[in-house]
Amino acid sequence: MSYAETYQRRQPLRSRLMPLALTAVGLTAGLVSSQAMAVDSATLRLGHALHEDHVVARAYRHLADELEQRSDGSMQLRIFPNGQMGSTQDMMGQMQNGALDLVHASASNLESFDDVYSVFNLPYLFESQADFNEVVFGPIGEEIMQATRDKGFFAIGAYVAGYRSFYASKPIRTPADLEDMKIRVQSSPTTIRMIELMGGSPTPVAFSEVYSALQQGVVDGAENNVPSYVQTRHAELAQYFSEDQHTSVPDFLTVSTATWNRLDDEQQEILQKAVEDSEAYQKDLWDEVDQQSRQQAEEMGAEFVEVDKAAFQEAVQPLYEEYRENTGHAELLERIRDTEQEADQPQE
Ligand code: GCU
Repeated sequence: MSYAETYQRRQPLRSRLMPLALTAVGLTAGLVSSQAMAVDSATLRLGHALHEDHVVARAYRHLADELEQRSDGSMQLRIFPNGQMGSTQDMMGQMQNGALDLVHASASNLESFDDVYSVFNLPYLFESQADFNEVVFGPIGEEIMQATRDKGFFAIGAYVAGYRSFYASKPIRTPADLEDMKIRVQSSPTTIRMIELMGGSPTPVAFSEVYSALQQGVVDGAENNVPSYVQTRHAELAQYFSEDQHTSVPDFLTVSTATWNRLDDEQQEILQKAVEDSEAYQKDLWDEVDQQSRQQAEEMGAEFVEVDKAAFQEAVQPLYEEYRENTGHAELLERIRDTEQEADQPQE
């Protein structure tokens, strides 16, 4: 079943917006003092550190088209791709001080801004893509996405990102194979701990710098989903893709709370709808690119390796206990488990 088929928003748009306690003051561009504003309220600036061929970067171009169409040209999206504005962490800072309105960030990047996002970095959290969809695009995902509003940003859209596995110039079949290996990770404390528990040496590197880090031996391997492995051409340098499928980390589009509040009700609704369109577009595109990517990887000389998945699962068990003890969000994990169990019940 494709993402598009399994995906269903649980609630209609209006009820999803209600808890936001709409605070728009109905200001229009011309009336607002431009001092604290990145741009006038009709032109939103989105920064991301992805290559323009990345599936989510393509979804943002779709979002730009949708926004323009739905607003009859009165709302525009200006995209700064490819880390032009710096790393994701830098751009999150720029969003806080008003230089950007929207920033792409995976749940791994977001974990350093609020530990409500750490749950999405737990290994083997979802048993299937259907469970992922149920949680990320359902009420739990919505609650997490809204949780940081008083920190100056929140997530307005979510995107699928498949399973992440290891790749290197040698196969990694068991955790013991990771010994003495420097593995590139995103800057997520949970991921860093996961690699430590598996026996490797976690090394945070910005996404756009991984190719040269692999080339220069700064890292011995990395981990990602198959489309990213191919699109970045990491497959040329690290030819063994070992499918332990340790995580399934969603991507998010975050928006500045100040920008959101500056938009009037209609503009908020147009933006939200255009984002939903981009989510649906990305799901379909993901299915297509995911299927093509395996073949492309093989054409680039890559080999897919079967691994002892149970050994990786066992190695990371302590992470669950640590998560329960160290974050204030143990109940989120229980709710995710309950949601997955309910979803797995046979329908009457
Ligand atoms: C994936 C994900 C990106 C993320 C990247 C990474 O490509 O879609 O959002 O930045 O992995 O590993 O940094």
